[in-house]
Amino acid sequence: MTTLRSRIIAWAGRMYLVRTSKKGFDLSRMSFLPEPVLMPLRREGLDPVNDLAAVREKEPISKLPVPIAANVWLVTGYDEVKAVLGKANAFSSDFTNLVGKAGAGAEQNPGGLGFADPPVHTRLRRLLTPEFTMRRLSRLTPRIHEIVEERLDAMEAAGRDGTPVDIVHSFALPIPSLVICELLGVPYEDRADFERLSAARFDLFSGANASFGAISESLSYFRDIVKKQRENPGDGLLGMIVKEHGDSVSDEELAGLADGVLTGGFETTASMLALGALVLLQDPEHFAALKDGDEAVDRYVEELLRYLTVVQVAFPRFAREDMEIGGVQIAAGDVVLCSLSGADRDGELGPDMERFDPSRNVPSHLAFGYGIHRCVGAELARMELRAAYPALVRRFPSMRLAAAPEELAFRKLSIVYGIESLPVRLDG
Ligand code: HEM
Repeated sequence: MTTLRSRIIAWAGRMYLVRTSKKGFDLSRMSFLPEPVLMPLRREGLDPVNDLAAVREKEPISKLPVPIAANVWLVTGYDEVKAVLGKANAFSSDFTNLVGKAGAGAEQNPGGLGFADPPVHTRLRRLLTPEFTMRRLSRLTPRIHEIVEERLDAMEAAGRDGTPVDIVHSFALPIPSLVICELLGVPYEDRADFERLSAARFDLFSGANASFGAISESLSYFRDIVKKQRENPGDGLLGMIVKEHGDSVSDEELAGLADGVLTGGFETTASMLALGALVLLQDPEHFAALKDGDEAVDRYVEELLRYLTVVQVAFPRFAREDMEIGGVQIAAGDVVLCSLSGADRDGELGPDMERFDPSRNVPSHLAFGYGIHRCVGAELARMELRAAYPALVRRFPSMRLAAAPEELAFRKLSIVYGIESLPVRLDG
């Protein structure tokens, strides 16, 4: 039964990839799926739809009516999401569960680490973690501030005569793209290609005219970069891995890691920068508060991460065995979708979690996930957000939105929630 079920899931996954690679990766094309499956990706402005809270209230682990033979569970409760993500031995994240072994060519595997299980995951993650310690990351601090200031200069020039400036394209997207270049150690002569590539990845994420071609292009770009780093290792992440573990990692694995870092760190941070700016712009008190010291900045950043939880749903987990979680019986082969945005608004965390309140003592939110796949770049993301929000507010203290809230175009049905553009006037 389990084998038949896994075959059907793999078939559905392959069909989905075939459709998307021909037509572009657009979750809205999943509209053939029943509404309860899409519901955790829907929002009203910044907030998850009310139905998500209603489901969480009634059944924090609920069975979705999906037209495949497997049970598909939606987990929305904070404790329940932690229970699933914390049980790495009981759940697999392997991409081949979704597309089948034959469908999982390197060309179509979007980001190695997140879709790998131990022991492969453990080995690859061990290569990355030393590069993400605060000590190693601190070498990036001055560059992050420079990158932010350069973007603010460009915004100032563009918006000088009162012309609206789009925060998404002038600020939120370039900052993480340039920071990832620095992190990986992409040589200067290859950066124009990197910018083009991350823009293509952004299209891929947003579903506009994109295809899985963007992933294979990205992998082949990183293969070239890896080759250069093998010949002449630099001080960036790739060069350091080559210097310290060069013999135990293949070029393909290194290119996959670099691609995973781009996938994990680019759109997520860009969305946080843009949506966070929107939250701040909606309340002058919040906007002004960020000019003050570091303590306020840290509280704001943590509450923005929780409130926005831009990675709405974790990668699917596949049950390896029968088990009980939160009183619900889950069978081997079942698919489990963890709604991080649902969990982070759960009353289990404290009172009134639907509200943005930076004065609260933020409990440990799940915006970066939980367990062995918890975001490896969390501290880098925090560094970027802590540098960018206050610098934006200090440079343009009279900034205001240049569009009515109802005109703002948010992403539809995107795993990483975001906004297409955010026009502002700089001079008040
Ligand atoms: C605010 C920005 C970010 C958010 C909200 C975020 C969120 C997440 C989440 C929720 C996961 C876990 C997914 C799951 O368990 O299914 C994850 C994993 C990951 N993130 Fe991030 N991330 C951010 C920034 C970054 C940055 C800056 C990098 C690297 C430069 C990065 C690299 C990764 C990688 C490589 C993984 C996979 C880790 C693993 O599977 O072991 N992320 N991220």
